[in-house]
Amino acid sequence: MMSAHSIDLFDTVIHGGTVATASDTALCDVGIRNGKIAALGQDLRGRQMLDASDRLVLPGGIDAHCHLDQPRAQGLASGGALMADDFHSGSLSAAFGGNTTIIPFAVQHRGQSLVAAVADYHQRANARAFIDYGFHLIVSDPRPEVLSDELPMLIARGHASVKVYMTYEAMRLSDRQILDVLDCNRRAGALTMIHAENYECISWLTDRLEAEGKLAPKFHEDSRPMAIEREATHRAITLSEVAQAEMLIVHVSGREAIEEIRRARARGIRIYAETCPQYLFLSTADLDQPDFRGAMCMCSPPPREPVNQTHVWQGIEDGLFDIFSSDHAPYRFDPSGKLMYGPKVSFRRVANGIPGLETRGPLLFSEGVMTGRIDLNRFVALNSTNSAKLYGLHPRKGTIAVGSDADIAIWDPARRVTITNDMLHHNVDYTPYEGREICGWPVTVISRGEVVVHEGELLGRAGHGHFVERYRPAKGAASWN
Ligand code: URP
Ligand code: ZN
Ligand code: ZN
Repeated sequence: MMSAHSIDLFDTVIHGGTVATASDTALCDVGIRNGKIAALGQDLRGRQMLDASDRLVLPGGIDAHCHLDQPRAQGLASGGALMADDFHSGSLSAAFGGNTTIIPFAVQHRGQSLVAAVADYHQRANARAFIDYGFHLIVSDPRPEVLSDELPMLIARGHASVKVYMTYEAMRLSDRQILDVLDCNRRAGALTMIHAENYECISWLTDRLEAEGKLAPKFHEDSRPMAIEREATHRAITLSEVAQAEMLIVHVSGREAIEEIRRARARGIRIYAETCPQYLFLSTADLDQPDFRGAMCMCSPPPREPVNQTHVWQGIEDGLFDIFSSDHAPYRFDPSGKLMYGPKVSFRRVANGIPGLETRGPLLFSEGVMTGRIDLNRFVALNSTNSAKLYGLHPRKGTIAVGSDADIAIWDPARRVTITNDMLHHNVDYTPYEGREICGWPVTVISRGEVVVHEGELLGRAGHGHFVERYRPAKGAASWN
């Protein structure tokens, strides 16, 4: 006969830490069995005991916006450059940054079958990831058969989110096409994510700046000023209203776009919003560095004038932002990436995007929680839970609850770290945050009960990470608001 003690022996117990979810904080042990959280309580016993005294035990981070292993092509954000990270290096870097799930993109190029594009990304990720992953779909060619067959079928197979672009020559959709995708997504149960920048204005301003010989990376911001993001944000919200379909505005960069979202929410429109570390920690000054080094901080929308950072922080603090993602878009500062056309070329030809999978959570923890701007529970919501909820992973992921996957990051809140590119695990040769001193770091990362990272050491294996299906309820138009 088994004793009560042996019945309660867990595979792993995280002992003595402060457990925090998006709503609660408690001093308790976490018992893990078969990759799931099996108990929360006192004095739990496990075959493996992990001491978390003086540590925070948090849901693993979910980086819900990152780009990995996207093939080269012209007319995209990449401008034909090579992405430095694939699912191996990207997921490794994410894990070292306290993440247990990532949601990169599967991109459909014009003329391509969406189903074939998604199958290709599943191949790229297969057996290479250290942590779990899903895919947002990017639709650049919503032909009738894509809308009637391919998109609903892929959503039904666990891809519950779809990004559309209002800019980039090869990706942008017309307003009418965006309405079609919104309508399809609502019926099939997917959230529409939108990149809101006005293509025509960017193209007109870029031509003008180039004619004036204004080619340096710092002119990237002049080519896509806040007004063109504000206009596109307003238009995107209008399209969402017209289609009566929920929408999430990704990578919101500053005040004027934030004001549009606040106004929409005040009208009762269900608009979700994401921002990223670059809009809290970088500014136009970072685009204006000698030796073309401003290119390292070129992303779209661009980092803004510093005053915008205050507005983005305000949105982080007061709940305007639901999601905090890295928008990791990895290009090396060498001829494979940012310098593909050399260091004298127009900003137009420089790959857009910056790395950030490993630094996203620690930056927010240090500058958000340790400064008192947000509390620990809000941090958990932004770092993990809200992405799980909005993108159809909750309650399997994004929380610490009995029955959830044991996806956990144990943080040392007192650990002082100076960020350098040498300590990071991505395949990019720089970080925009080089030399920044922060406080707090995820020291142990556990994915479905397996320790992936412990005290700077990799214990996990490529292939442990699985594709996770994500589902959201399909909605009739009547359920709008
Ligand atoms: O500059 C950026 N953000 N590059 C990645 C592509 C995108 O639009 O998110
Ligand atoms: Zn985008
Ligand atoms: Zn992106």
